[in-house]
Amino acid sequence: MERYTDVLVIGSGLAGLFTALNIDPKYKVIMIAKEHLQNSNSMLAQGGIAAELNNDPILHESHFEDTLKAGSFINDKQAVKYLVDNALVAIETLVKFGAHFDKDEKNQYLLTKEGGHSHKRILHSGGDASGYNTTKSLTDDLLARENIQVIENTIALDLIRSKDGKCAGAFVLENDELHYSIHAKMTVLATGGIGSVYGSTTNDLSATGDGIGMAHRIGARIRDMEFVQFHPTALYLEDSKSRRRFLITEALRGEGATLVNVEEQRFMQKYDPERMELAPRDVVSQAIYREMYDTWTDHVYIDTRHLDPKFLEKRFPTVFKRVKEEGYIMGIDLIPVAPCEHFMCGGVYTDLQGKTTVENLYAVGEVASSGVHGANRLASNSLLECIVFALSASKQMNELLETSKLQSDPKMEVLPQYNYNYKPIRKKIGDYMDEHVGIVRNTKGLTLTKSVLDQISKNLLKSPNLTRHYYETLNIVTTAQLITEAALRREESIGCHLRIE
Ligand code: SIN
Repeated sequence: MERYTDVLVIGSGLAGLFTALNIDPKYKVIMIAKEHLQNSNSMLAQGGIAAELNNDPILHESHFEDTLKAGSFINDKQAVKYLVDNALVAIETLVKFGAHFDKDEKNQYLLTKEGGHSHKRILHSGGDASGYNTTKSLTDDLLARENIQVIENTIALDLIRSKDGKCAGAFVLENDELHYSIHAKMTVLATGGIGSVYGSTTNDLSATGDGIGMAHRIGARIRDMEFVQFHPTALYLEDSKSRRRFLITEALRGEGATLVNVEEQRFMQKYDPERMELAPRDVVSQAIYREMYDTWTDHVYIDTRHLDPKFLEKRFPTVFKRVKEEGYIMGIDLIPVAPCEHFMCGGVYTDLQGKTTVENLYAVGEVASSGVHGANRLASNSLLECIVFALSASKQMNELLETSKLQSDPKMEVLPQYNYNYKPIRKKIGDYMDEHVGIVRNTKGLTLTKSVLDQISKNLLKSPNLTRHYYETLNIVTTAQLITEAALRREESIGCHLRIE
């Protein structure tokens, strides 16, 4: 079987949905989702979308400066300016598609603050259900569009490379059995993050670095892979075996929560006396790491005991309910937290239109490295990055589709299908990444990890297997290798990348 389309969107998070919806309805779009349409990291986002909703140059400058400061000033300044200046139009388009954000009784948007922001500029929806609400409203729109076909339970295995080196669609596997090509004039990677590369993550566990793996195999430029962001406050549950960790939004600290160590001492004054708990994430995660080390524990606490439980329940309904299930009442109890993998700040290199270095291949959202994050992403800039660059990418594709043609037609070689169990390999990769390529890194640990990953990769490539689990494991190890190699190359500490020899 073969399918043909104008645009193939790989991934169904906010960036993929927004790209598909902004493609001119006269063009045919196929969107593939690895699981259900609604399984994505965007769905899990709690905090919100950072945006200055006006043309005040002083406020634009302040968002620009905060983004650079959080990214240790190695961000691409042109990309950051584009992000900040195009926030308003992207949010307006989002609202046109049915997204809504919390407002006060005077119909004004309620704004909050998170780490690294010099004032309140974060829109939220349903209190702490920003990602869910925003993504859900777009999903409803998408399903109503006649030019968009959604194929669920389908993983992209590899990108199709035409004879002249362009991207021409993808080889896919539906329901782990039906293998076919989708030929596309334009292909968009919107595959999200890399959470499953690590032993614990706030991500949906379907985030296996697929876009990075495929882009690397087709020869696209990948950059800034050493900058893996660890969220400071994932819920810590002593007996839980789950690799997926529940996020406790930074917006809670934005509304006044503090951090204390296991001796119930507040500690951020030692690390960032001015910004305290609202320092950028790299600073807070590294401070927590140090406190855990000094107190011989594997967690600290988020303290909300000075805040009104009724306010907390209304403002953070998702978090309130989840921690209650574990026996903690916000506003009364200390809640145990520890950092874990949250966001890849680097990824597949793109220009301001989401275009990669491979012709006819775009990347949007977390898989992309648009240059806006530098060495550490500013809180709530990720959903903004999704919509701003999805909009610019779809605008450019709409123009190019007028004249572009389907590329030639290489076939994927037929591979065996073995029911192998890749879980032990994945566990080994996660353990090494947590131990040696986590918040703190050194030459010895990175070198050891690189040799383990190189061996795993060699073994995998020797026995290709036409299953979802094989390709996911291959993408996990490729992503892990790229992170480790980049971390080895960068000898100085900067942003999320902390080298202590
Ligand atoms: C959070 O709510 O703390 C996470 C949002 C983000 O990653 O920016």
